[in-house]
Amino acid sequence: MFKIENVNFSYGNKKILHDIDFGIRKGTFLSIIGQNGSGKTTLMNLLNGMNIDYSGSIKYLDRDLPDYNISERSKNFSIISQKNTIEFPFTCMEVVMMGRNPYKNRLNSLSEEDIRLVIDVMKKTNTLKFANSLITEISGGEFQRIILARALAQNPRVLFLDEAFSAMDISYKINAIKLIKKLVKEEGLTVISVMHDINIAYKFSDEICALKQGRLHGVGKPDEFITEDFILDVFNIEVEKVDNKGFFVKV
Ligand SMILES: Nc1ncnc2c1ncn2[C@@H]1O[C@H](COP(=O)(O)OP(=O)(O)OP(=O)(O)O)[C@@H](O)[C@H]1O
Ligand SMILES: [Mg+2]
Repeated sequence: MFKIENVNFSYGNKKILHDIDFGIRKGTFLSIIGQNGSGKTTLMNLLNGMNIDYSGSIKYLDRDLPDYNISERSKNFSIISQKNTIEFPFTCMEVVMMGRNPYKNRLNSLSEEDIRLVIDVMKKTNTLKFANSLITEISGGEFQRIILARALAQNPRVLFLDEAFSAMDISYKINAIKLIKKLVKEEGLTVISVMHDINIAYKFSDEICALKQGRLHGVGKPDEFITEDFILDVFNIEVEKVDNKGFFVKV
């Protein structure tokens, strides 16, 4: 679905991404891991077309990414960015309805089908109870659940998540990831997710892409290359692998 070839990116004269080369197949849950400042958000924003000032080539469905216009991108990509705020006191349901904006008709109104889809997605994300609450008056984790509902209401082919679960408690986090995994398996959704929790990335990802100082340090199926030594190399922490369950930090 994505073909990334020899991609380099700089902010001014500061080189951020070096010689990135890999591909992403449709229906894959891909996690991007790496230390703070390693280039995860930068790479995400190149893949979702928000930033096109790179050298090299990124193809989405065999076409150069910069050739897609905004309307095409918004029907293909839902993006939850790392810095996400809504200052205006919309109701939560109004926020989720914004996910349908790319599909609005010429009269600029939502169809009954749109409303049904919004309610369905709010049920699945367990957010219907906030429908009439103001987005400015809910908790951080509840906010992230509404933003996820909006992203899913957009019915994307590719879902970009930049630490989209960071404020959710463990049960909502797991439920959200399971819901997304179901869409990956059953509907061929492709997910590109930046995650700091190595164990969740390890357990739920089909593929992991690890960045170290702006370079691709490893990409593939988690159990093929995520080892204690690899984590030491990328994150500079000693961990111990327990059976096949995950990694515990040695303290
Ligand atoms: N707008 C910007 N202008 C200049 N430099 C930037 C800008 N945004 C990010 N950088 C720099 O680019 C590098 C990579 O940043 P990026 O946001 O991609 O990191 P990250 O891996 O997402 O980190 P984190 O885990 O902290 O979110 C960092 O050194 C950062 O300081
Ligand atoms: Mg980031």
